Amino acid sequence: MKKIGLNGGIVDAADAVVPVMDHGFLYGMGLFETLRTYRGRPFLLERHLKRMAEGCRMLGIPFSPEDALASMPGWIEALMKENSLEEAYIRYTVSAGVDVLGLPGEEYSRPNHVLLVKALPEVPENLYTQGKALQLLETRRNSPEAPIRLKSLHYMNNILAKRELAAVSDPRSRQAEGLMLDVRGHVSEGVVSNVFFVKEGELYTPDASTGLLPGITRQVVLELAGAAGIRCTEGLYTWEDLLAADEVFVTSSIQELVPVTLLLDRQGTGRTVGRGAAGPITRRLLDLYRQKAGI
Ligand SMILES: Cc1ncc(COP(=O)(O)O)c(C=O)c1O
Repeated sequence: MKKIGLNGGIVDAADAVVPVMDHGFLYGMGLFETLRTYRGRPFLLERHLKRMAEGCRMLGIPFSPEDALASMPGWIEALMKENSLEEAYIRYTVSAGVDVLGLPGEEYSRPNHVLLVKALPEVPENLYTQGKALQLLETRRNSPEAPIRLKSLHYMNNILAKRELAAVSDPRSRQAEGLMLDVRGHVSEGVVSNVFFVKEGELYTPDASTGLLPGITRQVVLELAGAAGIRCTEGLYTWEDLLAADEVFVTSSIQELVPVTLLLDRQGTGRTVGRGAAGPITRRLLDLYRQKAGI
């Protein structure tokens, strides 16, 4: 990454610094969005900025989604060009900005905006047909810092989960996504994704009370399923519900909808999902999602 976006401008990576008195650094008061481009343009930018705006409102960080929507496409395009990227993984961070040492009783006034871009991850050719494994983790999804999970600068829970996943010696879990249950034992979400399953033609996904991040892709999938006449329920589910499912898939802005074809628990027991390949509802929803993305 040669160049980084900082407060509307573009600077050399080495010069992109945020002051140590920024409350994003001191107290984790900040939020981020991760999204990607299709045909060089950021997908669902408006929704990502809306989620950012809602989170900023809760954290007392000034943020105008209208101003951001007007300026971001040009900023992203310029930064991609500076980094010689035609498609990009984009991370946009808004941190609270410099403030007093100690907890402030008032809202923030001078947030810092940081824009990072990199190449999209390489995806194995057969990922969307053959799917990946989902490894059940012992790390539990913690309860959110706010009434609803924000995409905040607190990702310790996810990093600990990722480390647990990386330490699983079973070779089948090498490319797996990790699955966290909530403290009550309900399926919550992946380390960096939301989870869906299909049973007898209907779609199910954990509800927000499990501490999950309400993903943009999750929301779009719910809408696409609704429009396609696929019944969808948000509720409380267990690992056993996944084991009994006909199809399972995970969603995220970067990876879209990825079929899960193998379920692994911590004892090393593996269960193939359906026929061990992407099921018909997963394929249909992925097609609809990609149509929406214009590819
Ligand atoms: C913990 C977590 N859950 C879910 C998601 C999926 O969210 P989205 O669809 O908005 O990318 C992410 C994405 O990074 C995530 O980090």
